[in-house]
Amino acid sequence: MKESLFMRAAFSQPTERPPVWMMRQAGRFMKEYWEIKNKYSFLEMCKTPEIAADVTMLPVDLLGIDAAILFSDILVTAEAMGGDLSFTQGVGPKFSNPVRTQQDIDELQTDVLDKLQYVSDAIKVIQQRLDGKIPLIGFAGAPFTVLSYLIEGGSSKDFKLTKLFLNNHPALAHQLLGKIAQVTITYLNMQIDAGVNALQLFDSWALALSWSDYQEFSHNYNVDIISKLNRTGIPIISFCKGSSVFAPMMAEAKPDVISVDWNADLKNIKESLPSGIAVQGNLDPFVLYAEKAVIKKKILALFERMRGEEGFIFNLGHGIMPDIPFDNVKYAVELIKEFRYKI
Ligand code: CP3
Repeated sequence: MKESLFMRAAFSQPTERPPVWMMRQAGRFMKEYWEIKNKYSFLEMCKTPEIAADVTMLPVDLLGIDAAILFSDILVTAEAMGGDLSFTQGVGPKFSNPVRTQQDIDELQTDVLDKLQYVSDAIKVIQQRLDGKIPLIGFAGAPFTVLSYLIEGGSSKDFKLTKLFLNNHPALAHQLLGKIAQVTITYLNMQIDAGVNALQLFDSWALALSWSDYQEFSHNYNVDIISKLNRTGIPIISFCKGSSVFAPMMAEAKPDVISVDWNADLKNIKESLPSGIAVQGNLDPFVLYAEKAVIKKKILALFERMRGEEGFIFNLGHGIMPDIPFDNVKYAVELIKEFRYKI
């Protein structure tokens, strides 16, 4: 496993081409996903190890990507803590009991590993299926992003309630973030014990924050989490939308890889980071809607720009959208797998 393209790139070792995987690769852009989804609810899929394994394997079998990612969601930790979570088609995640007061925070539990046992079980089934062929990436949501869903009660365009909460009730926010961080540490270490080969921390909505709020309400918790993982041999990837701006601070948390959104020039980011931190990214996912010639041109331009850089994993700047044509994703993966850096 140490010799796989993904692991070598994640540990900043040379590779003959960049490894490829894509955020949200285990999802709705595949008709095979819908064949499963039509039979079960999303949470049923997450909580049934055999089904979670089936979905995890779809992009492995159909696309031939270089790393698998566990089929689950960043909100399962919040659900285990006491959030009443549901997913509705076209609406997304909903918590019917949003967290807004001291009492709400006090009621959240932190001793929740038993409730997340299904994730451990899924990881074991997936690793049997993968049979050492490619690495498996586990993941969790970062405390700020998970907090935003608990406060808003679901997705938000502007994070108005979240920011109001941080501004008016910073002490409560820190209590809540502390509880989520505590759960995230034990949850990610549980995933390591169950057998994942790498971990990604998703701080998807950090982009909403100012520099100083990011430091106070997000970064400090991510530092704590990353420092407490049993990470020997397990690369840690830190992702946020906003990484074009926050990358220098993210580097202080000492992840092995920073996953970069599509706004920044990836080479400039890479060269601004301390050596030994790899980058992942950063194609604008909207490129995958375009004609194949455009997809090819933009991927080859990114690769040309990254020539000579060790520690580069190809990914999108954010997740695949559900209506991106499967054929285009497959084309991109094949193009990348045929690519070789020539001296
Ligand atoms: O990457 C993968 O393919 C692995 C599985 C995965 C899912 N969610 C499956 C999913 C991962 C890594 C996630 C992470 C996740 N979940 C994030 C961070 C990544 C990012 O995109 O920023 C966030 C913010 C969530 C929260 C979430 N889950 C939302 C907002 C939604 C609904 C809207 C949307 O984008 O899909 C979900 C549902 C969800 N998570 C689906 C899937 C396949 C769709 C469920 C369905 O079939 O309806």
